[in-house]
Amino acid sequence: MGDIRVAIAGLGNCASALVQGVHYYRNAKADEEIPGLMHVDFGGYFPKDLKFVAVFEANRKKIGLDIADAIWAEPNCCWKFAPDLPKSGVKVLPGPISDGVAPHMRESFFAYDEDEIEPVDVAEELKKADADVLVSYLPVGSAEGSRHYAKAALDAGIGFINAIPEFIVSDPDDPIAKGFKEKGLPCAGDDIKSQLGATILHRVLAQLYDKRGLVLDNTYQLNIGGNTDFENMQVEDRLKSKRVSKTEAVTSCVKYELPTKIGPSDYVPFLGDNKVCYITMRARAFGDLPLDLNLKLSVQDSPNSAGVIIDVIRAIKIGLDRGIGGELSSISSYSFKHPRYQIDDFEARDRVDEFIEGKRER
Ligand SMILES: NC(=O)c1ccc[n+]([C@@H]2O[C@H](COP(=O)([O-])OP(=O)(O)OC[C@H]3O[C@@H](n4cnc5c(N)ncnc54)[C@H](O)[C@@H]3O)[C@@H](O)[C@H]2O)c1
Repeated sequence: MGDIRVAIAGLGNCASALVQGVHYYRNAKADEEIPGLMHVDFGGYFPKDLKFVAVFEANRKKIGLDIADAIWAEPNCCWKFAPDLPKSGVKVLPGPISDGVAPHMRESFFAYDEDEIEPVDVAEELKKADADVLVSYLPVGSAEGSRHYAKAALDAGIGFINAIPEFIVSDPDDPIAKGFKEKGLPCAGDDIKSQLGATILHRVLAQLYDKRGLVLDNTYQLNIGGNTDFENMQVEDRLKSKRVSKTEAVTSCVKYELPTKIGPSDYVPFLGDNKVCYITMRARAFGDLPLDLNLKLSVQDSPNSAGVIIDVIRAIKIGLDRGIGGELSSISSYSFKHPRYQIDDFEARDRVDEFIEGKRER
């Protein structure tokens, strides 16, 4: 079916896992079961079809390096699960910093100085690279930055994937989301859901409680980790949308008011890319008797969503091939924490299969 030319904004841990994953599964066969991918053959596209053609960064230690080397530059700490990557021939470009780097993250992210290095014109670079789709992996709290990159994708006439909790694709009134629809370009978002992370686990449990007639009195989900995602999210002001995204993903599973505390809870540097999540669910069962569940989940944070993104990228390419503009609802509901339509996860998966088969428009 041909290549899928992928551009990335923010070559942090998630992008490192994505780039590694494509190389790791380069020989995957259609009938193979790959953990973390919906299908190896996704509408005729395979993981090996993804080619990384442009990368934008704020980190001076990554800028100018080949992607194959830049994914290991500090402060990235993603687990190395793929063999050494061949050079891509693509060098990391200085992207406009905007609000991507919070004041407390300037040193950790080795932010370059815009007086010394001139940021590139993102839309121009996307056109030069002949990209099909841009994936935004900016840090949480990048309200302006996310919109800048999304607009650049729109101006370049390509697809867009918003992996971060800024509500662009999910907001039908957002002018950029509308722009994708008007220009006939597909987009998906917002805030990528992991293969099996805190959100999907908490959601499925809440759905199970609901189906089994248990009434939840309250629930919390506390998450800790030691990567820059968690370091960045120490500032409560930056993570408002993350809390909304993660909280709504759970509260939307029940029809009553549910007291919650859900979100990133602390930065524990020595955990690196290991994320630990604690979920407690307090419910009332028959006879109004208490039923308490306490759960701990420990995962490698960044690789946990890399397979999901490989599927989303392929869905966007199908959208481009078919000329479907605007938010792709099936893949957004299945793969993102804050989609436009929050539906049952298993129903969403069936809808993605219908989309692949061409039985569902979006
Ligand atoms: N499983 C997951 O890890 C997961 C799940 C859902 C959402 N996300 C979100 O995905 C995003 C990326 O996560 P991550 O773990 O890779 O974070 P990270 O901190 O490792 O990477 C962010 C990268 O963005 C770069 N950056 C900052 N400002 C920039 C700019 N203006 N232009 C270009 N690059 C810029 C930083 O230098 C850094 O390399 C975060 O918002 C995170 O919350 C991750």
